[in-house]
Amino acid sequence: MLAVNANRNGVGNMEISVIGAGYVGLTTAACLAEIGHHVLCADCDMEKLNSLKAGQLPFYEPHLDDLVKRNVASGRLEFTIPADAIEKSEAIFICVGTPPLENGEADLSAIESVARLIMSTARGYRVVIEKSTVPVQTAKRLWKHLSIYNANGLSFDVVSNPEFLREGSAVEDFFHPDRVVIGAESPRAIALMKEIYAPVLRARSTCAVHAQCPSMAQPRLILTDTNSAELVKHASNSFLAMKISFINLIADACEAAGADIAKVAEGIGSDKRIGQAFLSPGIGFGGFCFPKDLQAFVRIGEKLGCDFSLLREVEKINVRRTEQFVAKIRKELWVLRGKTLAVWGLAFKPNTDDVRFAPALGIIRRLLSEGAKMRAYDPEAMHKAQRDLPEITYCDSSYQAAEGADAILVLTEWSEFRMINWTRLAELVSHRLIIDGRNLFSADEVLANGFQYVGVGRAGEPVPSSGEPKRLGELPDVSMRSHSLPLAADAVPAAT
Ligand code: UGA
Repeated sequence: MLAVNANRNGVGNMEISVIGAGYVGLTTAACLAEIGHHVLCADCDMEKLNSLKAGQLPFYEPHLDDLVKRNVASGRLEFTIPADAIEKSEAIFICVGTPPLENGEADLSAIESVARLIMSTARGYRVVIEKSTVPVQTAKRLWKHLSIYNANGLSFDVVSNPEFLREGSAVEDFFHPDRVVIGAESPRAIALMKEIYAPVLRARSTCAVHAQCPSMAQPRLILTDTNSAELVKHASNSFLAMKISFINLIADACEAAGADIAKVAEGIGSDKRIGQAFLSPGIGFGGFCFPKDLQAFVRIGEKLGCDFSLLREVEKINVRRTEQFVAKIRKELWVLRGKTLAVWGLAFKPNTDDVRFAPALGIIRRLLSEGAKMRAYDPEAMHKAQRDLPEITYCDSSYQAAEGADAILVLTEWSEFRMINWTRLAELVSHRLIIDGRNLFSADEVLANGFQYVGVGRAGEPVPSSGEPKRLGELPDVSMRSHSLPLAADAVPAAT
């Protein structure tokens, strides 16, 4: 082992291992090292491990690269195989994948393998900390399973410590959490967990994101039993997904009624009991968390004998977003066969290269099936999208993607798209039309620059807010939802 140097947050006094070097594991390992611990980050994928040892991260996450480099250089972060990590550390975070099975349930086989490895490898006391998202009662099962395989008479505890790290802002979320949830039933394990998180809980760590941290409330420490901690995780993700599907329904109502979702969301979210966050409508939620966690939670509900049909609706509303967005494109362009469509954004959200369950990919597949020609650009996600979707044209910039386009589709709200030079863009496209699946632009800005605009939940015509009420026949045609400019002569296809 390398000598461990003191870091900006103090001296690393705890030996921690993190099993699984994916989004959650690698971020957790690097951040735990940054707050002063000595961390062994382990993975059984030797290719990934070798890349990490060579300083290459398997995914893009803001600030993580620097954090890994700094902590590897100081000796506080090392990469190794799981057996080595388990042998050396008292605290073992399990961050392995729990992908969905065919029936929607989480596949816990990787967790089971780690449990067996712990029992065959460890000597002395161990705290086994479940961080992967798992069904309620998994910690109990884990404890039972560890007991069965405990041939060496190991003393151990099992803790549930769910993560709330959003991709794209995971490092910031680690340093400034709203809460740290610890589900543990032994005083020894609770004491150890408190010690691990002490710098974050006391807000005394030097944050790896801000030069000067904004004043924030001290994170709440929630100590509970393992079942409750596990349910906090599933219920949080499901609630957030429900909020998104709810605002998407309201956005549909806005389009149908001629109202403005931005104002409606502001009005709803100004109620402190509701809050502004997660009220952005769009093409639906994606990523490796919400879609799979929601499905898994529905299965958990079924097994527990609870009626979770509410969550099934949340999922259905989300699935419908793809078809609804394609219908919008069809409404503007009529026949899609042979049309060139520029896609801005492939990742399931900005600041990540993750395209797993990304709504953009579903929309592209749907458009390809109707014969459209797709030209895509994303600042970070193209190499990953290319593996799933080799049949489209990948471009080096948003401008290149727009060349000859009949419409530009905004599918991820990357901030660089906001900086677009409209004059240059106007010269490149075939038709000046932005179909904005994320409400990245304001309709006024787009129209002022000579493009037509279609957003989500935005009224097409100004609705009179005062004055004499109009008779039915005089009401604006709210079915005309795009913000239109007069069509250029070449916008009408030649008769065949
Ligand atoms: C989510 C949770 O926010 C984290 O707290 C949790 O730890 C993580 O899942 C996990 O379980 O590991 P993440 O999936 O990285 O994090 O991203 P979010 O920021 O939650 O966004 C999820 C999806 O919802 C994205 O596709 C995003 O575009 C969409 N979204 C989000 C909306 O459509 N509207 C909104 O208002 C907010």
